[in-house]
Amino acid sequence: MKKRILSGMRPTGKLHLGHLVGALNNWVRLQEEYECLFMVADWHALMSEYENPKGLKDSIIDNVIDWIACGISCEKSTIFIQSQVKEHMELCMAFSIITPLGWLERCPTYKEQLREISNRDLSTYGFLGYPVLQAADILLYKAEAVPVGEDQLPHLELTREIARRFNSLYKKEIFPEPKALLTKSARLLGLDGRKMSKSYNNYIAISEEPKEIRRKVAGMFTDPLRIRLSDPGHPEKCNVHSYYAVFAPEREKEIDSLCRESKIGCTDCKKELAEILIKFLEPIQKKRDKLVKNKKLISDILDGGRKKALLIADKTIKETKEAMGI
Ligand code: TRP
Ligand code: SF4
Repeated sequence: MKKRILSGMRPTGKLHLGHLVGALNNWVRLQEEYECLFMVADWHALMSEYENPKGLKDSIIDNVIDWIACGISCEKSTIFIQSQVKEHMELCMAFSIITPLGWLERCPTYKEQLREISNRDLSTYGFLGYPVLQAADILLYKAEAVPVGEDQLPHLELTREIARRFNSLYKKEIFPEPKALLTKSARLLGLDGRKMSKSYNNYIAISEEPKEIRRKVAGMFTDPLRIRLSDPGHPEKCNVHSYYAVFAPEREKEIDSLCRESKIGCTDCKKELAEILIKFLEPIQKKRDKLVKNKKLISDILDGGRKKALLIADKTIKETKEAMGI
């Protein structure tokens, strides 16, 4: 029997190369070894986007299309939308009853987001409960592990605490304590050297058109000490070079020496990188184009995923309610 894992993404916009190397490629590999559930966390997206949810519906479908185009398979894995399996809400309710307020108020991601995010009002009951819903997502399927980035570790810790508290309150080993499967992939920075993010507008989307890729790569920050072509470059300080490391490892060493010896200029170096990225994305985008035209297939896949997820979810909810005496 394969171990079961679950992961999710919030559909807050177009997926980009950061999602691809940071999470999606990892998900694709995990499909071979685990029974995987991949979930579009649309309720979680709403917790921060509720004031302006326009575009959310399109993002949900667009993200699923990216997942499939990148190699997530509906035969190997269960692909579904959180809001289509209502049992997430029931388990969230059950967990919210037993979760002490202090655990949530102390959660570092909560405190940080309240502090950092000023253009939205996040002082809501729902947002405080963000990790409770995430715990419900994971434990509804009794997932043994959760592939996540480091930023999600506090939520996983809370998930384990909630599982432990439930089991001890109701004297039944209903919920396992899931482990984090930390993604070890290289982190890809944005075009300006900051974290790649929609809000910084420093990303290359998986669906980015070649023309745009050329324009965006041409604008990438390079080694700040290299002003003239004759200045020797420092590839270890150059974000363009780190893209070579990820997308053209066979060319990385060569670029490294050409750069140090002033035998390649940044303009040419970036032009070459743009073509590498275009080629890299071409098969994914071809698959995408077919899927975009086949809305029926996408809705069939999501419906199949919903049914598969529901089969597990329904059992867990029955056990949960019985344990709690209702
Ligand atoms: N909080 C996660 C994020 O922002 C998304 C998410 C929601 C998730 N539910 C999950 C991830 C369950 C893993 C498991 O990236
Ligand atoms: Fe960076 Fe390439 Fe310029 Fe060297 S030549 S500094 S690796 S962009």
